[in-house]
Amino acid sequence: MSESAKLVLGGETIELPIIVGTENEKAIDIRALRGQTGFITYDPGYKNTGATESAITFLDGEKGILRYRGYSIEELCENASFLEVAYLILEGELPNKEQYAAFEKEITYHTLIHEDVKHVFDAFPNGAHPMGQLQIILSMMAGFYPDSLNPHRSKEDVKRTIVRLIAKMPTMVAMIQKKNNGHPLVYPKNELGYVENFLRMTFGQVTEDYEIDPVFVKAMNKLLILHADHEQNCSASTVRLVGSSNANLYASISAGVAALWGPLHGGANQKVLEMLEAIKEDGGDTDKWLAKAKDKNDPFRLMGFGHRVYKNFDPRALIIKQSADEILDKLGIEDPVLEIAKKLEEKALKDPYFADRKLFPNVDFYSGIIYRAMGFPVEMFTVLFALGRLPGWISQWKEMRETKQPIGRPRQVYTGKNARDFVAMNKR
Ligand code: CMC
Repeated sequence: MSESAKLVLGGETIELPIIVGTENEKAIDIRALRGQTGFITYDPGYKNTGATESAITFLDGEKGILRYRGYSIEELCENASFLEVAYLILEGELPNKEQYAAFEKEITYHTLIHEDVKHVFDAFPNGAHPMGQLQIILSMMAGFYPDSLNPHRSKEDVKRTIVRLIAKMPTMVAMIQKKNNGHPLVYPKNELGYVENFLRMTFGQVTEDYEIDPVFVKAMNKLLILHADHEQNCSASTVRLVGSSNANLYASISAGVAALWGPLHGGANQKVLEMLEAIKEDGGDTDKWLAKAKDKNDPFRLMGFGHRVYKNFDPRALIIKQSADEILDKLGIEDPVLEIAKKLEEKALKDPYFADRKLFPNVDFYSGIIYRAMGFPVEMFTVLFALGRLPGWISQWKEMRETKQPIGRPRQVYTGKNARDFVAMNKR
């Protein structure tokens, strides 16, 4: 007989099945609990709740392991292109030569954005945050492609929507940056690779040829791969939850962007750089800022530190830190903010406050330094996170649909007033 857990409630013993994952992760299946006992489980922030089984990403927070479909991010970063990783995450296997060529061709075919989308920029006030713009443009897409409205339509329709999204996202992101700079748009050039095309649309000018720097391509490719999926995080769970009501894919991804925007999640990459700048402006006294982060009466947190699941190190942060060094070195940039980041990290790691709480630099701690060296404005950082995370969100949505998951709907423990009679207070 397979393993089970016994729960004693009010003198009665209830047996609950145990689910075991392929990496020996174990979960108590409580689906029958409420029906049998009337009890629900209580877990604010879902800190210890498995919301789904998933075959996409494996993460071991204690050992600092992150794998997409079984492949380590270290190996993927060294050997694969972002588009290959996107295919892997979506389809479950790395593409062979023909599959890759077909996928790349399809993606390149759909890179243009409908010209009417440009009008939406007129409605944004100057300096509107790029994440808000991205969210709006993504949800607008369903208006241009009404065949995406019903996620139950044919497999081909769903596939076309997925391809459109991956193809158009770099164009959208580049458009947002151009519009924010007040520069004319640079249209996609479809013979270029995914990352190369994105860099040209973002940094190129309509009036001149753009020389693609292989150092930038390598760095961008790595950053996108590192962000491609991260199992049931806040934004992926949002995408799944929104999608579980049969909302269309564009709306679900737009909701994911909203969740990612928060500074406790993807928005941290912008906040890290702003924090490092503030420390520099303040004279570079890292001890003072560490003390602020430790002070429970001060709302300040060390941005880019800590993680819900990584409790020893974030493997993405190790790769990014090394990349930051390499890129700044290759570009011949000396960024004082990198020195502040390193000093902060060194001191925090020796500090019992951070050690006791297992707080380490996360993916966002060093990524902004690279983005800035490449020339991205700080408000664009979280949009770049979204660009990388897109295949992950789509795969989570696809898996949720394909495994026919029910609408997401948590329970609660009610703590409000008991039933009472209506009294017309405004007539008293
Ligand atoms: N600076 C100072 N103290 C911290 C920090 C921090 N960055 N992070 C956590 N703590 C403390 C927190 O105050 C609490 O202390 P105590 O036990 O004394 O009350 C303890 O550590 C546990 O924190 P928590 O908020 O209960 O942990 P959580 O798992 O709910 O939150 C987190 C994880 C990432 C939201 C949090 O560590 C944080 O706010 N970090 C800063 C924001 C950040 O860098 N976010 C990016 C995450 S990685 C990118 C991604 O989202 O994928």
